[in-house]
Amino acid sequence: IRDVKVSVMGASGGIGQPLSLLLKQSPLVTELSLYDIVNTPGVAADLSHMNTPAKVKAYNGPEQLKDSLKGSQVVIIPAGVPRKPGMTRDDLFNTNASIVRDLAAAMAEVAPKALVAIISNPVNSTVPIASEVLQKAGVYDPNRVFGVTTLDIVRANTFIAESKGLDPQKVNVPVIGGHSGITIIPLISQCTPSISFPDNQLKALTERIQEAGTEVVKAKAGTGSATLSMAFAGARFGLSLIRALNGETGIIECSYVKSNVTDAKYFSTPILLGKNGIEKNLGLGKLSSFEQKLLDAAIPELKKNIQKGEDFVNKK
Ligand code: APR
Repeated sequence: IRDVKVSVMGASGGIGQPLSLLLKQSPLVTELSLYDIVNTPGVAADLSHMNTPAKVKAYNGPEQLKDSLKGSQVVIIPAGVPRKPGMTRDDLFNTNASIVRDLAAAMAEVAPKALVAIISNPVNSTVPIASEVLQKAGVYDPNRVFGVTTLDIVRANTFIAESKGLDPQKVNVPVIGGHSGITIIPLISQCTPSISFPDNQLKALTERIQEAGTEVVKAKAGTGSATLSMAFAGARFGLSLIRALNGETGIIECSYVKSNVTDAKYFSTPILLGKNGIEKNLGLGKLSSFEQKLLDAAIPELKKNIQKGEDFVNKK
């Protein structure tokens, strides 16, 4: 096993802590760098007692930001504020846009070759923000910047397995597009194993997958959004990046990336991962007419979200 240093940016948060736990639990990680503006010494001390290989280090506050990133192959970003009831992911834009911009700027300086996985919402806009920042710094490699949409796939697999009485670990549904509301497009027609639903059930299931984050925000009643399932999904995605870095072949994850598959400059599709990030974009596959309509509805919204992210970085 080669040395793999992973940095978690926002490691003390609701997502950051369980995400760091799951990464520390994996023998694939040899160094775990925990960055936040508060509380990382405690989180790191706690995790460091686990008898797994990863060396855990705390970096607290902006003066330690660059050190937290130096030498990292994989950077995972859950930093930012979460949703409260009644908020959309786009309502988080004002706060989280500048957080992601500043973290990307530090990466451009000290870890320009790292693979970066962005969890901070609105992902539809924060991925373009990080990309523009790296671009302006002259170090942008579109194969290395990922928006984490894995929770949408995890949810789709779970809900479909439940409705058909299947083992959720054996169901795999691609979910494409973006990571909010109508931009989330589950491709149930491409599910393995192959299954079908009557139209009304298909529609209800699709809408549940699109609004599943809001289900959690409501249930948490003002105390936050999905953290534990998000950490589970983020760890799965991060570990897939590491497996691919280690030379494992055939690793495929859906992710929101720079794309020319549709009219939207960034778009999530299944991606074959490799040592340099994106090895191959596997594209849309064959869509049902229902899914094609979802795609048509998603594109204008996605384009708007992308433009908003780009404008934020390029404002005069
Ligand atoms: N740099 C690093 N960490 C930061 C910064 C910053 N500039 N600003 C805030 N943080 C940290 C906070 O200190 C906190 O520990 O980010 C963490 C966020 O944790 P929570 O508030 O618990 O939010 P969480 O539920 O983890 O969600 C974070 O992920 O899914 C998205 O929509 C969600 O955008 C939100 C983000």
